[in-house]
Amino acid sequence: MSAPQPRGIQFSEPPIFERGAPGRSGASLAELDVPAVDVAARFGALARREEAGLPEVSEPEAFRHFLRLSQWNFCIDSQLYPLGSCTMKYNPKVNEWAARIPGFLHLHPQTPDALAQGSLEVMWRLSEALCEVSGMDACSLQPSAGAQGELVGLMMMRAYHEAQGRSPKKVFIPESAHGTNPASCSLNGLTAVKIEKTADGLTHPEDVLRALERESGDDVCGLMITNPNTLGVYERYLPAIVKLIHDKGGLVYGDGANTNAIMGWARPGDVGMDVIHINLHKTFTTPHGGGGPGSGPVCFKKHLEPFQPTPVVVRRGDAFALDTDRPQSIGRVRAFTGNFGMFIRAYTYIREMGGPGLTQASALAVLNARYAWSQLKDHYTDPVPQPCMHECVLSDHDLEKETGVRTLDVAKRLLDYGFHSPTVYFPLVVPGALMIEPTETETKETIDEFVAAMIAIKEEAHRDPELVKTAPHSTVVGRLDEARAARQPRLRWSK
Ligand SMILES: Cc1ncc(COP(=O)(O)O)c(C=O)c1O
Repeated sequence: MSAPQPRGIQFSEPPIFERGAPGRSGASLAELDVPAVDVAARFGALARREEAGLPEVSEPEAFRHFLRLSQWNFCIDSQLYPLGSCTMKYNPKVNEWAARIPGFLHLHPQTPDALAQGSLEVMWRLSEALCEVSGMDACSLQPSAGAQGELVGLMMMRAYHEAQGRSPKKVFIPESAHGTNPASCSLNGLTAVKIEKTADGLTHPEDVLRALERESGDDVCGLMITNPNTLGVYERYLPAIVKLIHDKGGLVYGDGANTNAIMGWARPGDVGMDVIHINLHKTFTTPHGGGGPGSGPVCFKKHLEPFQPTPVVVRRGDAFALDTDRPQSIGRVRAFTGNFGMFIRAYTYIREMGGPGLTQASALAVLNARYAWSQLKDHYTDPVPQPCMHECVLSDHDLEKETGVRTLDVAKRLLDYGFHSPTVYFPLVVPGALMIEPTETETKETIDEFVAAMIAIKEEAHRDPELVKTAPHSTVVGRLDEARAARQPRLRWSK
């Protein structure tokens, strides 16, 4: 069986400003039944002097325009999307049904608590479920992304230290952590101190101890550790590492973005971590949505509870409310209560799966990644001598030396075989990294097809390197100058 190749009809499509005709409209407005206002006379200099130049199109024209553009794109609903670290999980359609229940969909965020009991209860129940999964005591759903969860968790750690009259600045971070970890420290006015990568990809207590002795004095704010880490490895020495940090008065922040690998098997709270974030879009099947709408709840132990953001969803008897009377809180971190539509979707997924279902999802995520690794490790370089968890890291560094074909070329060529690329060049500690995360819902057949494509590209690189270097060949838009697109973006349409 071969992978579904990208074939079929794709339309070229101009910008929508080049479609339509003057006076054409996609909406029928009611006749004007109020006095007309002369905007220029009424608003003077504030009034717009020239036409806005908006496209005037019919509804079918607008609909087709966006549908055609969407068909140029790659999405999890059409094929495997093994983007390691991002966990492009399938989004079950029942989540969408639940998120569209009118009582949830149309609720105004400023509805008084007494009239929003159902929504508050969903938030409360979701928080309880996330505490159960993470082994923590309490949860704030507010952060809008994993990275914002990190910021919030670190702010809570700082507030905790400050409440005790200390203001330590150093946060120890293993090199195998996600790149957002040191960035969140800097944003918080904290100093990230690197713990070097080790040969087996694990963080060892001896290395943490050495870094503590070398760097800290009495300045230990805490440790920030991604688990499973960005090499796809479970940090098995965590209990000893946590103890070292606690003994120095520090707190342990767990980057729980990779919870998809461990749900039902291991809980950060049980190994002594103080605070973690979880990305609902990576573990609990909410959409990534092109960089948003994300959701990165933070879960934490009791001693951090007073510092959590407000408002806090609380249960009082049978009623639910938003509590803002928290004098030690770090305050508001976003508007209203968080990304509510994502809460409904995540809660639906959790109820649909139940505890055993979530546990099985993690087992299958790991099984699929190990299967992909076992099939590819003899064809690409295997830099981590450990069985992987939910994602595996391989490298094509040797292929580049032999053929001149670079990691980005392999990534682009995969599109011609009908697959989105794995994450490339990350983690930074592995030259030529290809980080593959199939996720739990992919079948063995699909993974076999992906493996076959990877092996075929390696053979092409030896036989016809130009073919790979100039890929993709089958997509509507070919190879883009990505650096230029990022540095000199043209975001405005002009004739
Ligand atoms: C390990 C890890 N930490 C943090 C993040 C940041 O999360 P977000 O993209 O939601 O800000 C990610 C994102 O994929 C991640 O994989």
